[in-house]
Amino acid sequence: MSLLPRIKLWLGFFTKISYQRDLPLVISAFRHRHTHPIPSHIWQMIDKNGGFLSRKEAGLLYWAACNWPVAGSVIELGSYEGRSTGIFALAGRQVYAVDAWSLDVADLSAFGQGTVQADIVFDRFKANLRDMQIENKVSIHRGLTSTVAKTWHQEAAILFIDAGHTYQDVKSDLRLWTPHLPSSRNFTDA
Ligand SMILES: C[S@@+](CC[C@H](N)C(=O)[O-])C[C@H]1O[C@@H](n2cnc3c(N)ncnc32)[C@H](O)[C@@H]1O
Repeated sequence: MSLLPRIKLWLGFFTKISYQRDLPLVISAFRHRHTHPIPSHIWQMIDKNGGFLSRKEAGLLYWAACNWPVAGSVIELGSYEGRSTGIFALAGRQVYAVDAWSLDVADLSAFGQGTVQADIVFDRFKANLRDMQIENKVSIHRGLTSTVAKTWHQEAAILFIDAGHTYQDVKSDLRLWTPHLPSSRNFTDA
């Protein structure tokens, strides 16, 4: 990964999760960011899915999912073809996968600015869940994150924000979804 995305990733990571009591975990994640290799058999399953998560990011996410000190599910905003979904589920977490799988979103970067068909991506997502044998660990919630949030009641231990990457999208997702965390713990890729 080049320098700018790397800085963005770590800035996001620090600013969004560094609530005081999680600081030791955050510092540990940073110190060991190069030493959390994802187990090879997990990576082989993830890497078959299309998407945007690098092996190093996958390692950090897997490590965080295994070590986050709160038991419970993950609310995943932005699933695409299921890379991060697979990581959370294979780490043993139940996942609420929330994604529009639609070109009716402000941030079309995941769909080649509209050249990739969203329904095909959604079909691949479901097929990938079957291939990874994690269908029973994932519940699918198709819709805009802002729409799904209106009727959302379930709590989760982790909120992973990786849907729209515009400033407005991320701000809105943080505002609408952090109330579903018991102790305001969350992290984001955006
Ligand atoms: C960067 S991709 C997610 C990548 C995925 N986490 C992975 O590991 O490969 C972003 C996803 O967010 C979805 N998305 C973008 N804006 C959205 C919105 N406002 N509401 C719901 N989904 C949205 C897109 O459909 C796309 O699938």
